[in-house]
Amino acid sequence: MRKITLSNNKIYDGNLILVNAAYSLQSTRENELVSANTDYPDILLCRDAASALQMVLEKISAARDIVPVSGYRGPWEQTQIYNDSLKESGAEFTKKYVALPGHSEHQTGMAIDLGLYSDHIDFIRPDFPYDGICEVFRETAPSYGFVERYPAGKEKITGIAHEPWHFRYVGFPHSAIMADKNLTLEEYVEFIKNCTSEHPLTYGNIEIYYFPLGEESTEIYMLEKAVYQISGNNVDGFIVTAWRKSQ
Ligand code: DAL
Ligand code: ZN
Repeated sequence: MRKITLSNNKIYDGNLILVNAAYSLQSTRENELVSANTDYPDILLCRDAASALQMVLEKISAARDIVPVSGYRGPWEQTQIYNDSLKESGAEFTKKYVALPGHSEHQTGMAIDLGLYSDHIDFIRPDFPYDGICEVFRETAPSYGFVERYPAGKEKITGIAHEPWHFRYVGFPHSAIMADKNLTLEEYVEFIKNCTSEHPLTYGNIEIYYFPLGEESTEIYMLEKAVYQISGNNVDGFIVTAWRKSQ
């Protein structure tokens, strides 16, 4: 076995960090930001999320019909959007549709709001219906690492109203598992805590498991030569994604 020692502040980094009203963003990936789309150079995402978005749009030939509306927001921008919304739409609306500054997934660089192309696209609540090309996007996105983050019926869990337009990059295969099991990121992070290196969640030849935070640092044990990714969950531990060698 190979031992990997992680410093505990790494729990704030990675594709699977949970950012919501209870858990604020502690890290930054500003140096990884690129344009989400060459036609919209000011809308930024982390490199992997931008590449994955491009791949979905190419796969479903939707580059003209689906428009990126809002991607990465710095703390100042989220504060301005929050304050503008309070002024223009009131506290009840804002609480439902705009995360508190420091608690927005948009600040991670891994969230994107998408709209169906039209002459007027609402910035806070773009139209992204459950039919046509938008639904094709929604169904294809989990194969490339994106999930619809604020589904109907899960408002009490996410703390945010139903947002058909907001997609979060969590990386594959987590996106596919979340979509198959109908789990929000809050639920998935909890679910994975039951998965250990002895009893992992398996997806094809991929194993997924959790290591809780150690006292000063966290020791993670991996099979020799395993190919793996490690993400913090921004709460209390690490999620390992390991690709098993074929037998
Ligand atoms: N609209 C989402 C919740 C945000 O402001 O991050
Ligand atoms: Zn959003």
